[in-house]
Amino acid sequence: MHDDIQEILFSEEDIARIVRDLGERLSEDYRGLNPLVVCVLKGAAPFMSDLVRRMDIALEMDYMAVSSYGASSQSSGVVRIMKDLDIPVEGRHVLIVEDIIDTGLTLQYLMDILKRRNPASLKVVTLLDKPERRTEGLVPDYCGVRVPNEFVVGYGLDYAEKYRNLPYIGVLKREVYNA
Ligand code: PRP
Ligand code: MN
Ligand code: MG
Repeated sequence: MHDDIQEILFSEEDIARIVRDLGERLSEDYRGLNPLVVCVLKGAAPFMSDLVRRMDIALEMDYMAVSSYGASSQSSGVVRIMKDLDIPVEGRHVLIVEDIIDTGLTLQYLMDILKRRNPASLKVVTLLDKPERRTEGLVPDYCGVRVPNEFVVGYGLDYAEKYRNLPYIGVLKREVYNA
């Protein structure tokens, strides 16, 4: 285990099981709909990559970058589009893929933008949900697992751009972000 990690919440095996279950559910629900699966960069990249390989249906993938946290551990409340989608959304069944929903600000903003582009449907799958921190009335359509209100990193989730490549999800030691 990495020196900066206090405790592992979800091992590689735990994550694989959660992702497989989500993939099965999504395959059933989206079969025949050729969904446009949208990865919210950068945090959702590892989850997206594993999830689509657990969906045995025709689908298309695209990427969007919006950032609200920057290099801080606190949300700034300011969400910026860094990269927009390449594929048109109109008439498509859009599935947004997130690694974690915290306050819900990022997703609320993103959904407002995409709704205005007239998708046939717009839903969200998140690997982790931290409902204690929610300020927006946002409930994910598909959720892997709930997490306590701790600073979690790994499997895409960063602190100041670090730890995204950890194969597990763990709690960051307090001394790392209070230093
Ligand atoms: C993180 C995370 C979610 C968002 C959740 O992204 O990946 O996208 O914050 O927080 P919220 O619900 O309070 O908006 P971040 O802005 O850190 O960008 P990143 O994915 O590039 O790390
Ligand atoms: Mn993110
Ligand atoms: Mg981040």
